[in-house]
Amino acid sequence: MPCTVICGGFWGDEGKGKIISYLALKDKLDFCVRTGSVNAAHTIWYQGKRYALHMVPGGFVHEKCRLLIGAGSNVEVAQFFKEVEETNVKNRIGIDNQASIIEEKHSAQDKASSHLKGLGTTGRGVGPAIEERVRRTAKIARDVPELKPYLADVAAETNNAINGGKNVLLEGTQGLMLSLFYGTYPYVTGRDTSASAICSEAGVGPTKVDNVLVVLKSFMTRVGTGPLPGELSKEEAMKRGWFETAAGTGRDRRSAPFNFELARKAVMLNGATQVAVTKLDCVFPQCKGAKDYNDLPNDAKQFVNQIEKQTRVPVSLIGTGPEALDIIDRRR
Ligand code: IMP
Ligand code: MG
Repeated sequence: MPCTVICGGFWGDEGKGKIISYLALKDKLDFCVRTGSVNAAHTIWYQGKRYALHMVPGGFVHEKCRLLIGAGSNVEVAQFFKEVEETNVKNRIGIDNQASIIEEKHSAQDKASSHLKGLGTTGRGVGPAIEERVRRTAKIARDVPELKPYLADVAAETNNAINGGKNVLLEGTQGLMLSLFYGTYPYVTGRDTSASAICSEAGVGPTKVDNVLVVLKSFMTRVGTGPLPGELSKEEAMKRGWFETAAGTGRDRRSAPFNFELARKAVMLNGATQVAVTKLDCVFPQCKGAKDYNDLPNDAKQFVNQIEKQTRVPVSLIGTGPEALDIIDRRR
């Protein structure tokens, strides 16, 4: 895989965490670099345990993987320490010297501002922390004494790893439709969420990337306000088994059927080379736990074919259950 960027194609919660954990184990990932911030939670089921990670990269499941948090990220210090403890990664995680720090005041501003409230933000303070960085008054990681043992030059480490032929994954958060530039503005998050922005936050130039893997869930969900084409009622979502609550905030997720036009847009704007389709078993229950494409029922195969036809990109990974290894891997 040498350098792969993983990004979400819809409104986040596509199941990026699950795909990352699979690749970490299967491809023996050497480096996993997290971008974005604590508004995002990546859910990982591994060895019967559930993790909802806001800071620690999803590659933690592979014990030899070096974990890094990029200079473009926003770090909430208490959450970082909590997750480092939970995942037991103290000796292999680093934060870029220049990553921004989210302070308590940012979360308070996020929750108090009526404009931000109207967008249904997560209230974690990410938007106000980014504003502070833009004003050049933000605290950065090197200003926080407790972070000293973890400080790293993430861009240098990551580029050295890529140049040395290591397996490197750049972990995006949220999804293209929440992008500050390309999403459903103003109902978006405070940053660009596209593959290019993920590279920038990690400190990796575009010529160094081999693969861009866009993750699309078999149905769409959205938390917070803003348009969701084809939105179903909560009752209908429950009937179909698509009703979810947010891993980060516990809020209800709104849901809608898969949208091919949006999938094409996400593939184009991210320059995708591959697509991963998650939760196929939620739409076609007979798929549950399948590990071989030939075991899928015809209607599920037709759905996958349709995604390939419309996006003109191969569907290389298919999620068929929550555990890291519940995957159909169609890569060579
Ligand atoms: P903020 O990112 O907390 O400012 O929230 C802005 C919008 O993005 C709100 O609609 C949030 O619900 C949504 N959002 C932010 N992060 C995530 C995520 O990781 N998954 C899903 N929605 C998110
Ligand atoms: Mg999430």
